[in-house]
Amino acid sequence: MVYAGSREPFKKMEKKTTNSPRMVLLKLGGSLITDKDVPLSINENALRAVGAAIRSSRIKERRISLFLVHGGGSFGHFYASKYHLSQTPKKVLPIGITRTCHAMLKLHSIVKEYLEHYGIATETILPSELLRRNLGSFSNPGRIHFINAVNNGLIPISFGYVGLEEDGAYVVSGDAICKAAVNSLKVCRTIFATDVDGIYPNSNLEGEIIRELSKDHKIITSKHVLDVTGGIRSKIKIGFELAAMGTEVFYVNGAMTGRLRNLIQGKNETKSTRIVNL
Ligand SMILES: Nc1ncnc2c1ncn2[C@@H]1O[C@H](COP(=O)(O)OP(=O)(O)O)[C@@H](O)[C@H]1O
Ligand SMILES: [Mg+2]
Repeated sequence: MVYAGSREPFKKMEKKTTNSPRMVLLKLGGSLITDKDVPLSINENALRAVGAAIRSSRIKERRISLFLVHGGGSFGHFYASKYHLSQTPKKVLPIGITRTCHAMLKLHSIVKEYLEHYGIATETILPSELLRRNLGSFSNPGRIHFINAVNNGLIPISFGYVGLEEDGAYVVSGDAICKAAVNSLKVCRTIFATDVDGIYPNSNLEGEIIRELSKDHKIITSKHVLDVTGGIRSKIKIGFELAAMGTEVFYVNGAMTGRLRNLIQGKNETKSTRIVNL
């Protein structure tokens, strides 16, 4: 067993020791792992870069506990937008739900395959196990699965999906899973890995990224036409919420192995945007 104390990562069981593993939450954005402009296309180079970054981070030796979440990119958003799914529950064509879920399961399987190739052993925690709408934190079955995964040396991984309620189906974004994770776990650091170097002042992505992002910055954003979860604007908003809950928040280009590795290892001096000054 790698991690001391089976329930250690969970907030309720808080009992800090110097030996506690540092929990790092890594969100692999859909913009990173897929090509958002081409439906159902993956970004192989980015997946390799992520695999190399995680492998070279030597998380076990460094006592880092990783939780991975990935987005939907050109898999999930393509069908979700085609069948009018959004983050608010509504009745949609059942085949639309099936197709969106199936596309996400395919993408998830591809992500796992790439990680496996780099020796990274993951355990899928379905979003439906972890979350219930309006709960805001992990449900008990999700917690138990998470703990059992960690205690068996596996890296828990979840992903954006479709939630079902009496009043309809809705999109559960990867970023929303991150928020529930920070609510439920002692997350030291949250890393949003996307296909760009960090947060730019402007949506034309020209000039330098903002290294230290505070609420005083006025950021101009844009989102992909098919995006059903609010794009970077929503990711920045969630980032500030997470930072206020006590986790460090970074935005980094996940295709840059060295940068991603540095952030996983807790080194801040790397090209990225960090949230400061709440
Ligand atoms: N001001 C900005 N700074 C950074 N990225 C921006 C900005 N405005 C728009 N974007 C776009 O936001 C995208 C990342 O957000 P999003 O598509 O939601 O990522 P993901 O799919 O990884 O969740 C980038 O690909 C970038 O093109
Ligand atoms: Mg997004």
